[in-house]
Amino acid sequence: MPQSESTRRVFLIGFMGAGKTTVGHELAKRRRAKFVDLDVLIEEREGRTIADIFASSGERAFRRIESATLSALLQEQEQGGDLVVALGGGAFIEPEIREAVNRAGGTTVLLQASLSELERRCQNDDSRRVRPLAGDRERFAELFASRKSAYEMARFHVITENRSVEQVVSTIEEILAATKPEVQQS
Ligand code: S3P
Repeated sequence: MPQSESTRRVFLIGFMGAGKTTVGHELAKRRRAKFVDLDVLIEEREGRTIADIFASSGERAFRRIESATLSALLQEQEQGGDLVVALGGGAFIEPEIREAVNRAGGTTVLLQASLSELERRCQNDDSRRVRPLAGDRERFAELFASRKSAYEMARFHVITENRSVEQVVSTIEEILAATKPEVQQS
């Protein structure tokens, strides 16, 4: 583990439907940390929804905005307190974003579930969010397969299937408690 890795900053990674937002909220509450959903922050800063950004500017533009928004957040929070960030499903696939996350020295946690479970969760999602990349089943499956190796770069992998949000959060808390804290400079 790099010496700068800190459990004070947790980045939740995973495919659409992995539960990053739900788990992130609960994890942040338990750790008394600030919670940021990167997609929500993008929508606030841009003044338009993710679906609108995809529709009017395209995916590449969305990725640039995603990366710039994360960099700005990390800069703003440099001296801040504990932070839990839920990244969008495609964020950690971008090398630039992985570098920013690594530079920030946080702990990366991948939330895992099977393709069929992720499909089921995205279909049943009643949060009214429109996921531009979840509309087509074939594309969803292709994306899932193509992202596997990038997701595996996350330091910790947590299975979410058949487990409650509370159970998943408790597992993450145990992992963080067992992770050596950042080395303090005297
Ligand atoms: C995306 C996932 C979405 C959102 C955007 C693109 C992706 O976030 O960032 O629609 O590429 O997988 P969630 O994973 O929170 O659904």
